[in-house]
Amino acid sequence: MSQELPHQYLQSEIASIPACARLAVIGKPIVHSKSPQMQQAALDAAGIDMRYIRIQGGLEENDLDHLLKDLHKAGFKGLNITVPFKKKAFQIAEERDALSELCQASNTLIPTATGWKAVNTDGPGFEQALRESFQMELSEKRVLIMGACGGAGLALACQAALSRSPEIILVNRPRPELKELHAKLKACAPDCKISFCHFDSPEFYDAVQRAELIVNATSLGLDESDPMPFPADLLNASQALYDIVTHSTALAKAARGRACRCATGESMLLWQGAYAFEHWFAMMPHVDAMRQALKQA
Ligand code: ATR
Repeated sequence: MSQELPHQYLQSEIASIPACARLAVIGKPIVHSKSPQMQQAALDAAGIDMRYIRIQGGLEENDLDHLLKDLHKAGFKGLNITVPFKKKAFQIAEERDALSELCQASNTLIPTATGWKAVNTDGPGFEQALRESFQMELSEKRVLIMGACGGAGLALACQAALSRSPEIILVNRPRPELKELHAKLKACAPDCKISFCHFDSPEFYDAVQRAELIVNATSLGLDESDPMPFPADLLNASQALYDIVTHSTALAKAARGRACRCATGESMLLWQGAYAFEHWFAMMPHVDAMRQALKQA
């Protein structure tokens, strides 16, 4: 189906959405989301005559409930949910997958007869991104996650526990949620070695050196002037760094300078989208078409 790029709609404009729109990403703000280009390419490559659009949700108490009811009634085939609605979407859903249950947040909704099923494809998307970028299985690696209490870091930490990574080190600035997350993951994966620390804890640098996979899920690096979370000379060539920011950060550059394998968040964006498509249509999409569309977005 060839057509112009999908439009953006405000929640209040739902009534004006064209009938061919059957999938959407909901967030606020939403204008920068690349999911429409990526998912439209997948729909077109599969010959599915539907449009994927952006919808900007409202922030009032019941806005998301109303929006999800309206879209269900309108026959939407699937939704992606992004910041700041992932927790709320999880709460509203009638059914949830294991990763959503563990991190209490979901990025994908699938319609059921009466409402929505919530799944979280960020975790599986991350696992596949590691396979693709590093030929690495999360289930076999000692992983250190910086920003474990943030939205993305939390999902990845929970995925590491579900995948039974042999060691999981949770790093965040001090906050009570870090200890709570540690306890929750220990209960989920009692056989894994799981610890937590802060950026200024004495054990942090040792943990960086011990990790086989270092994940930066903090927003550090979004700004050119951001400091490094740790000195680059702690890194060595046997380690891999996954930075969820979709451009190359100072940390990623420093890691490359230390001959570490290094990847940034585009691959996770791609694969979480591919698995969302699989949930909606019970088949894998044409991933290379999605990848091309992302490059051009
Ligand atoms: P999200 O919407 O994913 O939660 P966020 O609020 O930008 O995004 O935070 C993502 C992560 O980056 C959080 O773990 C956050 O740490 P806090 O829990 O302490 O806020 C982390 N983060 C943001 N700025 C940081 C900084 N300057 N140093 C270290 N961590 C930082």
